[in-house]
Amino acid sequence: MQKITFPKDFIWGCAASAYQVEGAWNEAGKGPSIWDTFVHKPGNIVDNQTADVTVDHYHRYKEDIGLMKQLGLDAYRFSTSWSRVMPEGTGAVNKAGLDFYDRLVDELLKQKIEPYICLMHFDLPQALQDKGGWINRDTANAFAEYASVMAEHLSDRVKIWMTHNEPWVAAMAGHFSGEHAPGLTNPMDAFKALHHIFLSHGLADEALRASAKQPVKVGITLNLNPVHPASESKRDRDATRRMDTALNRLQLDPFLKGTSPMQEFAIGKILNKSFVKAGDFEKMHRLDLLGINYYTRTVTKYDRKFPVVSAVQIQPEGNEYSGMWEIYPEGIFEVLTRVWKDYFPSPPTGTEVRAPEIMITENGVPVPDGLDFDGRVRDERRIRYLSNHLIQVHLAMEAGVPVKGYFHWSLMDNFEWALGYGPRFGLIYVDYQTLERTIKDSGYWFAKVIQDNGFEF
Ligand code: FCB
Repeated sequence: MQKITFPKDFIWGCAASAYQVEGAWNEAGKGPSIWDTFVHKPGNIVDNQTADVTVDHYHRYKEDIGLMKQLGLDAYRFSTSWSRVMPEGTGAVNKAGLDFYDRLVDELLKQKIEPYICLMHFDLPQALQDKGGWINRDTANAFAEYASVMAEHLSDRVKIWMTHNEPWVAAMAGHFSGEHAPGLTNPMDAFKALHHIFLSHGLADEALRASAKQPVKVGITLNLNPVHPASESKRDRDATRRMDTALNRLQLDPFLKGTSPMQEFAIGKILNKSFVKAGDFEKMHRLDLLGINYYTRTVTKYDRKFPVVSAVQIQPEGNEYSGMWEIYPEGIFEVLTRVWKDYFPSPPTGTEVRAPEIMITENGVPVPDGLDFDGRVRDERRIRYLSNHLIQVHLAMEAGVPVKGYFHWSLMDNFEWALGYGPRFGLIYVDYQTLERTIKDSGYWFAKVIQDNGFEF
């Protein structure tokens, strides 16, 4: 038996997002988001499911916070729905929308759970999409306006603000592969959208700090994957370098260096000229907090036909798969140590970018859970997943990476975007007919880890 113990002030949390859990999609003055539009178009989501109701967190938030309390969470990372607060994306503020977030934050604080707000988790107001969405540079200014409204209203109580969740996914799945809203399929637009989302982080960062009622921490959450070659051939290794640039450096360099590797791609040279303005990247590199979402690695093979990177992802043999991804716990260690070594190799001398606090803001696994005859959910696989990943997080900390916290994805089973209600990611099981919640075995296991601030294995 070995035992690992985390530092006393390590933050244990769970994550969720507005569109995936709230429901109440058109209630109390909420405007539609691009996800409302997308799910209502037949063919976009498995079995044409929607998140109109999903797990009804909008009405059941008190019960849910009670469950968080039962798990012993220090923090809850959730996103706010922009179109619930500003139905048109700019201008008029919907008081009833803000009231919901007031109630949520107050209840969390009452239960001594720290709210971590994320302002954007894929659900852009449809009214802004109608004007071009993230392809339109003005959307970045609108995002800053929304950030100020939220800070004006909630920063007396909320100290930690994340601007975006996974800009890379929002840009690429939404504008290149078309699997996510708004369902577009143009690589040029995807790069443009990504740049404007990044820019909007910088503008929102200024807006949040200017409107905040107390000193706040501002950060962003990025999805990072280690990229490995499918073989030792030079073609695969070169393809891997390009894939790594496209997946990881494209996201990290702007925030941690104030530069972009986009120029390294032929397409980047054209794009750069068309939408990058002087000073854009300088606005981005002031992170107090870097959130990392880790799920899997990307094994890469050369493929001339695939645009931009001339590389594709393959599914290697040898490891367990979750139904969505290869399960690869060592990857979380690799991602953490890579960020630290590549971007903060030595203590700052005063000129470099200061290192942000680093946290795992999402990590989890879909398991086809169900209630057993006795009402328990025996999700051994999730416990194994969690413990193997936490061991790797701890190893990264021993290797010198100052990881401040770990947020599990997700608190409850919920709507998994284009895959609908198939994948269950929760520590809490939700019966989608009755909406009854049941803490799974993994939830009890996690609660014990939190209580002991570590575990034996
Ligand atoms: C991440 C998303 C989150 C959830 C998990 C499984 O990419 O941020 O909303 O869908 O994947």
